[in-house]
Amino acid sequence: MNPVIEKMKQHRSIRKYTDKPISEMMLKSLIECGQAAASSSFIQAYSIVQVIDSDSRSTIAKAAGGQSWIKDAAAFLVICADLNRIDHCCRITNATSLEGYTEHFIAATVDAALMAQNLLLAAESEGLGGVFIGGIRNAPDVIADVLKLPELVYPVFGLCLGWPDHDPETKPRMPVEMILHQDQYRSDNIPSNVDEYDSLMANYYASRLKNQRMSNWSIQTCEAIQGKKREHMLGFLQQRGFLKR
Ligand SMILES: Cc1cc2nc3c(=O)[nH]c(=O)nc-3n(C[C@H](O)[C@H](O)[C@H](O)COP(=O)(O)O)c2cc1C
Repeated sequence: MNPVIEKMKQHRSIRKYTDKPISEMMLKSLIECGQAAASSSFIQAYSIVQVIDSDSRSTIAKAAGGQSWIKDAAAFLVICADLNRIDHCCRITNATSLEGYTEHFIAATVDAALMAQNLLLAAESEGLGGVFIGGIRNAPDVIADVLKLPELVYPVFGLCLGWPDHDPETKPRMPVEMILHQDQYRSDNIPSNVDEYDSLMANYYASRLKNQRMSNWSIQTCEAIQGKKREHMLGFLQQRGFLKR
């Protein structure tokens, strides 16, 4: 395995950090790695807000359901999908301004996610660890308010980064055959595939070193997804100029 692939396969979210800081130079270089990701039509439709102020971090940690690692991380970044800048470009070039198209929302969200994943992977290659924080969408209005986000910018997720102070196991992913379809999508093998993966994950949950539990992938993920409907999101996004048509 080449070292990049090896690093990718070692990924696990890190939620405990030492007190060691991340130098400004390193953070800048990691962000440049994030920016090296591909971008839909090269719109680079993202912004990062680094949250340094400890009161702001506490407010965000509380809004995200009390996730203490937001306060403890050496760096905490809010990854935003940003159509505000491109809207400005449209205005100065006398093109019509953006009108809330769903397609543009998807492009900006995908751009932001690709950038953030590149950033995290670069961080991991330097020995740092991190975790994405979708929990900020529990109260996106609080985040937008604290960070003074303008219209056409929304917080997609946060990213905690720091030097790892624990060493959790990697979680076994689904076998490739389960997610790779050839020529046509197949639904007929979903029951048997899920059954097999549930057994694998039940074994993982029962035998991992910490937080052992009797569960499986179906139970865990359905509980998680049903518990995170965040019904306020459509209204929040529309209010910010997204998803109008
Ligand atoms: C978009 C996104 C949002 C996430 N939000 C949170 C979060 O709010 N809090 C948290 O502790 N982990 C969060 N995670 C981490 C996932 O729980 C984690 O990636 C998943 O369980 C797989 O574990 P692993 O990253 O250790 O392989 C998030 C991950 C992604 C991709």
